[in-house]
Amino acid sequence: MHNFLRRAKHATPADSGTRGCGAAEQAAGHPGHGTSQVPRPAGPAPDGPALRRAAAEFIRLHHGEARRGDPGPRIARVFAEIDATGTYRHTHDELVFGARLAWRNAARCIGRLYWCSLHVLDRRELTAAGDIAAASAQHLRQAVRGGRIRPLITVFAPDAPGRPGPRIWNEQLIRYAGYQGPGGRIVGDPRNAGITAFARGLGWPGGPGTPFDVLPLVVQGAGDDRPRWFWLPPDAVLEVPVEHPEHAWWAELELRWHAVPALACMCLEIGGVCYPAAPFNGWYMGTEIGARNLADSDRYDLLPRLAEGLGLDTASDRSLWKDRALVELNRAVLHSFDRAGVTMTDHHTESRRFLAHLGREERKGRTVGAEWSWIVPPLSGSATPVFHRTYDTV
Ligand code: ARG
Repeated sequence: MHNFLRRAKHATPADSGTRGCGAAEQAAGHPGHGTSQVPRPAGPAPDGPALRRAAAEFIRLHHGEARRGDPGPRIARVFAEIDATGTYRHTHDELVFGARLAWRNAARCIGRLYWCSLHVLDRRELTAAGDIAAASAQHLRQAVRGGRIRPLITVFAPDAPGRPGPRIWNEQLIRYAGYQGPGGRIVGDPRNAGITAFARGLGWPGGPGTPFDVLPLVVQGAGDDRPRWFWLPPDAVLEVPVEHPEHAWWAELELRWHAVPALACMCLEIGGVCYPAAPFNGWYMGTEIGARNLADSDRYDLLPRLAEGLGLDTASDRSLWKDRALVELNRAVLHSFDRAGVTMTDHHTESRRFLAHLGREERKGRTVGAEWSWIVPPLSGSATPVFHRTYDTV
């Protein structure tokens, strides 16, 4: 057990509330407090008129961008279906377009240049918790491809009137447990203390108790089923040991991180229809792990330990020991993913790509909504071009 990975911090209860794509969650300098550890409550389903408006807007956009001609007949069929059933079913093409569009619209995501290459797995027929857990493991296998990570979303059954769709309670398909020890100390990732305790309450016996125990999936089937826990099969979880390119002592810290960030508890909303269980992933940007997950003082809080190993003067902030430790941690993360052959981007590359994305979209006459505080990387912000401008927040 690693003492430096224990933290005196109480589990923060869930808050939640986010809708849309969280693909850049914490990718930027967002404070990330009050973060979501159990899912948001189901939002109110749009009523008839709101659903019709959202559906028509989406169908028009789809027909326009996919050059499908007059959307009128399709809109009329959708309206008739809404009148008869209270909802409507997307065609496969609409689902694929809608999922890509959700990524394109994700104002917090710096990685949107590749939005139209998102692979979409249509598993809308799945409603039962066990099936969703198994298909989620399959999602991870298909996303990771031995390290050549591909952006993928698996879409499970939508919410329907009087019958909520299934839900995945985990923030991501792969997350590390945060065990609350005596005196409020936490072993593992304090961010996940809530879901860890919740899974224990459901009967999960817990893992071996390391700082990097993979959590089970907590899944609730459609129609107000109760949440159940499922082991995540080890062959679905690729992890990368984090070592430093020069400092051999770094390996003794036994740091690691999972290869695939797969957001799992956000609602994919397309044309007024909510798909509450639609896990999706891109690949990591190094700073998410090196400047946030392993570094934040309310996460793994590694900077003091690293500074000690690096022989830095921690007596005064003005020695910039935190800054120097951060840079070395980020070098270690990038080096380790490269060595393991696992796709990872860095904040300089991704910033350039984001500006390329903005240019491309603007040439198509589309406005790109973006939140500065999420887009700007949490390390060396001003050394990246995304820092030196403002964004539309549509
Ligand atoms: N920041 C989150 C994490 O560290 C992942 C959010 C999604 N990131 C991404 N590159 N698609 O786990």
